[in-house]
Amino acid sequence: MSVTLILAAAENGVIGRDGAIPWHISDDLKRFKALTMGNTIVMGRKTWDSLPKKPLPGRRNIVVTWQKLWQAEGAETMPLERALEQPDVFIIGGAEIYRAALPRAGRIELTEVHRAFDGDAAFAFDRKDWTEIAREDHATPEGLRYSFVTLERNAP
Ligand SMILES: NC(=O)c1ccc[n+]([C@@H]2O[C@H](COP(=O)([O-])OP(=O)(O)OC[C@H]3O[C@@H](n4cnc5c(N)ncnc54)[C@H](OP(=O)(O)O)[C@@H]3O)[C@@H](O)[C@H]2O)c1
Repeated sequence: MSVTLILAAAENGVIGRDGAIPWHISDDLKRFKALTMGNTIVMGRKTWDSLPKKPLPGRRNIVVTWQKLWQAEGAETMPLERALEQPDVFIIGGAEIYRAALPRAGRIELTEVHRAFDGDAAFAFDRKDWTEIAREDHATPEGLRYSFVTLERNAP
């Protein structure tokens, strides 16, 4: 059983703007797909609303909401606590859900986007609690630099 946060964040912590991700990095979307495929993904209701195609295929889609009667085709809803108990859970956002799930996460698959962006959703965590176990540096054809970073929580 594992809880992994998977996210892309700008250098100023921004992860979203107006319900969308403020950059386009196609290799990041490919990596997201490769890591999450076949697993359970957990997201906040606003991130679900932001998906252009839903549910995300080949994955068990769980949406968390405070709304008692909320339902969506292709997704399960359950309290966050129960969602975190499912096997091999990837927390796919957004900011509210990352913050709520962070204390339970053992791993973060982070895409560092090496530029500041304007936005209305941001997420930050204390890097000293985490050990970097892998890093790959890349750039888009337009010159936006980014890094795929894997972090594991330090032993208590
Ligand atoms: N860069 C990235 O990697 C990335 C990834 C994902 C999303 N994003 C961006 O993040 C933004 C959305 O983030 P957000 O923080 O505004 O929204 P969010 O976390 O996606 O969803 C928030 C909603 O989740 C529900 N919720 C929150 N905490 C809950 C809890 N403890 N238990 C049950 N339900 C709970 C509530 O839904 P109800 O209002 O229905 O009660 C709340 O309004 C968008 O811009 C999106 O594009 C970025």
